[in-house]
Amino acid sequence: MAKKVAHEAPVRTKDRFLVFGAPDIRDEEIREVVATMTSGWLGTGPKVARFEREFGAYVGAAHVSALNSCTAALHLSLLAAGVGADDEVITSALTFCATVNAILHAGARPVVADVDPRTMNLDLDDVVRKLSPRTKAILPVHFAGRPCDMDAIMAIARERGLLVVEDCAHAIETEWRGRHAGTFGDFGCFSFYVTKNVATGEGGMVVTRTEEAAARVRVLGLHGMSKDAWKRFGDEGYKHYQVVAAGFKHNMMDLQAAIGIHQLARVETAWRRRREIWDRYDRAFASLPLGLPAPPEPGTRHAHHLYTVLVDPRRCGVTRDAFLDGMTREGIGVGVHYVAIPEHPYYREALGWRPEDTPEATRIGRQTVSLPLSPKLSDGDVEDVITAVRRTLGD
Ligand SMILES: Cc1ncc(COP(=O)(O)O)c(C=O)c1O
Repeated sequence: MAKKVAHEAPVRTKDRFLVFGAPDIRDEEIREVVATMTSGWLGTGPKVARFEREFGAYVGAAHVSALNSCTAALHLSLLAAGVGADDEVITSALTFCATVNAILHAGARPVVADVDPRTMNLDLDDVVRKLSPRTKAILPVHFAGRPCDMDAIMAIARERGLLVVEDCAHAIETEWRGRHAGTFGDFGCFSFYVTKNVATGEGGMVVTRTEEAAARVRVLGLHGMSKDAWKRFGDEGYKHYQVVAAGFKHNMMDLQAAIGIHQLARVETAWRRRREIWDRYDRAFASLPLGLPAPPEPGTRHAHHLYTVLVDPRRCGVTRDAFLDGMTREGIGVGVHYVAIPEHPYYREALGWRPEDTPEATRIGRQTVSLPLSPKLSDGDVEDVITAVRRTLGD
């Protein structure tokens, strides 16, 4: 059991609470947002087009469509791929609910596979076990920014004639053997949610292999209208549109892109800072009874989106939930990525899933804690996190 050590004051008082995943917003973003507001064009327009171009150049994809979230990106990718009723899509049991909900919203049946306990990415043996004549697609999640084995996934997909939609919500900088995550499958879906490596508040992006697929996503993302609506009221004169599908309202606004353009310009410096923090945590926690993230695989690039530790109560002397409470009392914001999907009542009741059917995801989901990893953290903040972890473990 952990030693009990009395500490009078928390590492950080309430007024200095370290918010988990706080975005690093600078003057460039603020100036661009103000300029967008005064330009009179807040909705989808030239800044979205620029953000698409620059994001495509960064990940090495020629065909991109910006949307208002990664959830929308996953949903519309599946629809554009023709996934629908009677189809099964295999994804990870250790992911955010949005991954699974997007499959349900596309009208298909999600099937969850377990994860490899070291990488926390899809266990491909379990994926193969879960293939059925109805399987239409595999939806790998590059968990925490660690790339899935895309050679093996693409080999399974080729052999079985399956589509691949990559969930790259954590994986903007991720590379597998020199190539960016998101560019292996038929579609790659990115998130710019507040806590993500490039943040626009809410926002998402689809990268695809063909302009036709990107156009399909774009049309579905804006009511199914055949022309870019933002051109409707431009100085080229009013443009009629035709509704060619029952689409959705999933478009990104220039206001969001205004933030994204400058976040993207700093993506590499932010990555280097997160890697420094990651290395500092690795050194500081090496002697503690926590489970630490495995080192990145050779020939890959980890996006260092989440630093997750495992709190096994038998080794640590505290439960995961007591650890979360202890960190909060010390003034440090923490996260949980994720309680395994089959633990949630909806999926148990609607789909009959049982946590024991994906045991590794379930175990990880019951032990995992994400520590702050924002590039905004000062060296002092990082030391506060380390002290709080030690104190919470009674070290
Ligand atoms: C793995 C994963 N997939 C999908 C999403 C959905 O992203 P968004 O919030 O942009 O819709 C998230 C967001 O947290 C995520 O972490």
